[in-house]
Amino acid sequence: MSDLKTIRGMPDLYNESIEAISLVEKICTKVFKSFNYQEFRTPIIESKSLFQRSVGESSDIIQKEVYEFEDRNGELLCLRPEGTAGLVRALITNGITNDEIKKFYYLGPMFRYERPQKGRKRQFFQAGVELIGDNSPKSDVEIISIASAILDELDVKTKLEINYLGNSASLGKYRDYLRDFIAERENQFEASLFERLNKNPMRALDSKDDSVKKIISSAKNISEFLNNEEVKIFEETQSLLNEIGINYEVNKNLVRGMDYYTGTVFEFTVESLGAQNAVIGGGRYDDLIKELGGRQLAATGFALGIDRLAEVITKRSKPKDLFIGFAEDKAIGYAQKIGNKIRKLNRELVVENYLGNANVTKQLKKANSQGFKFVMIIGQEEQKTGNYRIKNLSEGKEFILDEKGLKELLIG
Ligand code: HAM
Repeated sequence: MSDLKTIRGMPDLYNESIEAISLVEKICTKVFKSFNYQEFRTPIIESKSLFQRSVGESSDIIQKEVYEFEDRNGELLCLRPEGTAGLVRALITNGITNDEIKKFYYLGPMFRYERPQKGRKRQFFQAGVELIGDNSPKSDVEIISIASAILDELDVKTKLEINYLGNSASLGKYRDYLRDFIAERENQFEASLFERLNKNPMRALDSKDDSVKKIISSAKNISEFLNNEEVKIFEETQSLLNEIGINYEVNKNLVRGMDYYTGTVFEFTVESLGAQNAVIGGGRYDDLIKELGGRQLAATGFALGIDRLAEVITKRSKPKDLFIGFAEDKAIGYAQKIGNKIRKLNRELVVENYLGNANVTKQLKKANSQGFKFVMIIGQEEQKTGNYRIKNLSEGKEFILDEKGLKELLIG
C-alpha cells in the first residue's frame, strides 16, 4: 500500500478546512438566492475545444493548465478549468437563449494544473453567478453587489478594483498597439517571454515579472482606445457604484486572464493572502454566447474562490446544540429516542447521540471539546422522571428541565 498518495494540489478536506469551506458555500448560496438567482449545474467534464474557443488559445489556462484526456471514443475532453464556458455552452445546447434576463448561480470543483501554493490548488472550488441578457451597467453593479454582500456576510475586508476593456474593436486596436509596443522592445525580453507576450500582449499588463512591469509602465492604457460610448458606460458604472456605496479603485492594468472579457472587469483582493490574493474575479463577456454559436446576448458574471476565501475567514459555523450521553448501556435506546424527537422539532439543530464506551466524566469532556452548547446524560433517574439535568457548557450553569422545557431551551 506504500504507493497510495494524494494527488498534488488536490487536498482531502476534513475537520476545520471543510467546515470553513462549507460555511462559505452556505453563505454564497444564501446570498445568491436572496438576489433571486437560480442554481445551474453543468458537468465537470466538457470538450476541450469549448475552452479553447472561449477562455482562449493563448491564455495560460489553455497553454499549460488544462487536465485533458481522450475518452474511449477518441474525443478530446477536459476537466473544466472554470464555470462560465460550460454554462454558456449549456444555455446554447438547451436553447435557453431568449431575450428574457436570466440569473444563474453555480458551485463546484474546477481544475487547473498550476503550481500549488498557498491559496492555489489544482482542484479548487468556485461559486459563481452569470447574469445573461442585459448589457447595461446596472447588471455589472448588481453582480458586484452580490460579491460585496458575500464578503460582508463573511466579514472579510477586501479591495475592489475595476477596469473597462471595451468591445472587440477597441480591444483589438489596443492589442495591436501593445504588440507593436512590445515588438519595438524585443531585445529587452527573454526570447520565450517575448514569444508568449507577442501571442497575447495583454498578459504583459498583469505580469508579476518586475522587468515586464517596468517596460510596460510606459505603454498607453486601454482607456485611451475606448470610444465615447464606452467611456460613458464606464463612467455610468462608476457613478452607480458610488450611489449604492461600494468602494472601488480603477486599475487600468486589470485585464483578467481569459479572452472572452469585454467591458467592465473587476477583482476583489485580500491583502493577507500574499501572491494569490484575488478572491473574486469577473466581468462582462458580451460576445461569448454569439461566438460559441448562440444569439447575440450580453452577459456578465463572476466567480469566487471558495477555498481561497475559506483560508481567510475567522467566522465559524454556529456551535453545535446538544450532546446526549448515557450513564449505563440500558439507557441508550431512551437517549436515541429523545435525540430523534429533538431533531424532528428542527432539523437545523445539531444533536449528537454518544455511542462510545467512555464514562460520564469523559463524555462531558468530549461534549466540551467538540464544541457543544449543551450536554445531558441519560441515566435511570432521567428515564424514570422525564426530567433532565442540562449543562450549559459555555456558561458552566446546570438546570433541570422536562421535555417541554428542553424544547423551549433549544428552539425558543
Ligand atoms: P478566475 O479569476 O480565473 O475567473 O477565477 C475566479 C476565482 O477563482 C479567483 O479569483 C480565485 O479566487 C479562484 N481561483 C482561481 N484559480 C484558483 C486556484 N488554482 N486555486 C484556488 N482558487 C483559485 C473565472 O474563473 C471566471 N470564470 C469568472 C467569471 C464568471 N467571469 C465571468 N463570469
